[in-house]
Amino acid sequence: MTKLADSFQRPLNYLRISVTDRCNLRCIYCMPAEGISLASHEDILRYEEIHLVAQAAAELGITKLRLTGGEPLVRARLTDLVSLLAKIPGIDDISMTTNGLLLERHAMELKKAGLQRVNISLDSLRKERFRKITRVGKLGDVLRGIEAAKEAGLNPVKINMVVMRGINDDEVKHFALLTIRDGWNVRFIEFMPFTEGGKKNNHLVPVAEVMQQIETLGKLEPHIPGGGGPARYYRFHGATGTIGFISPLTDCFCKECNRLRLTADGKLRPCLFSDEEIDLRGPLRQGATAEDIKLLIRQAASCKPERHKLAAGVTCERFMAQIGG
Ligand code: 5AD
Ligand code: SF4
Repeated sequence: MTKLADSFQRPLNYLRISVTDRCNLRCIYCMPAEGISLASHEDILRYEEIHLVAQAAAELGITKLRLTGGEPLVRARLTDLVSLLAKIPGIDDISMTTNGLLLERHAMELKKAGLQRVNISLDSLRKERFRKITRVGKLGDVLRGIEAAKEAGLNPVKINMVVMRGINDDEVKHFALLTIRDGWNVRFIEFMPFTEGGKKNNHLVPVAEVMQQIETLGKLEPHIPGGGGPARYYRFHGATGTIGFISPLTDCFCKECNRLRLTADGKLRPCLFSDEEIDLRGPLRQGATAEDIKLLIRQAASCKPERHKLAAGVTCERFMAQIGG
């Protein structure tokens, strides 16, 4: 069997699975204040269906899975899905991207079910500002979630901060210092124009500028974590935590792209930013076999574009919460 690759010879070994488009936050860069029109319960893939897709993907050479949302932990009994996925031969890494609100309650059971690590989105360490950015969230819940994840051994816990000009860019150094003081692993992400508000109102701070700010605190040493992906990692001399930079706009990472995405409503998306999608839900509900699904996965791989065109202002029709980041 030839392993999964796209038409630009990039091997694909990573599938991001959005388990829901619902979220218990309303982050300003992710959705409009009124929320988004949600898929109905019937539209969302059932756990058995996700399991079948993941199994087929694993047979094609996918080794890494990540659960995303919306917020994955608002879906009922997520640990059941993790247990199913953890038993698939060939899958050696299962992770999750979460806003952390519900982690305090679920971290331990997720770890026991086979989840290996988490990335937690956190854009401000100031209570009032955190609420403004998320529109509804309580900072304390996330901080307790982070501690719970560490205690449960969901390591390395990575913190994702979307840097936004005039909104939270004055906190960059504070986050960077936590890689020394508390051993945090922080990743600074360039703001991507997704929502209408985002398009009109560009808050982009180029990664190069973020890095300059951080280097006023001390020199950054390159650090190779392995595992590929779009982030470039560094650390301060002697720090236990790392600093990562993700620059979708100013330094396109598409050359190393290794992933496909499955949306909560069962579409395979070859690229975060292109609106091309391949429907799996229809075929799954008409009795598709693992072999049929494999063919559709190969088809999605073959229509992966070479790179996105975000910098030229081309964005996509869906909101981030509908794709899962
Ligand atoms: N720009 C940059 N990052 C975003 N994320 C969500 N929306 C955007 C955006 N418009 C981030 C979240 C999360 C990750 C999945 O993507 O903060 O950490
Ligand atoms: Fe929810 Fe994440 Fe979107 Fe914030 S960025 S609204 S936490 S899905």
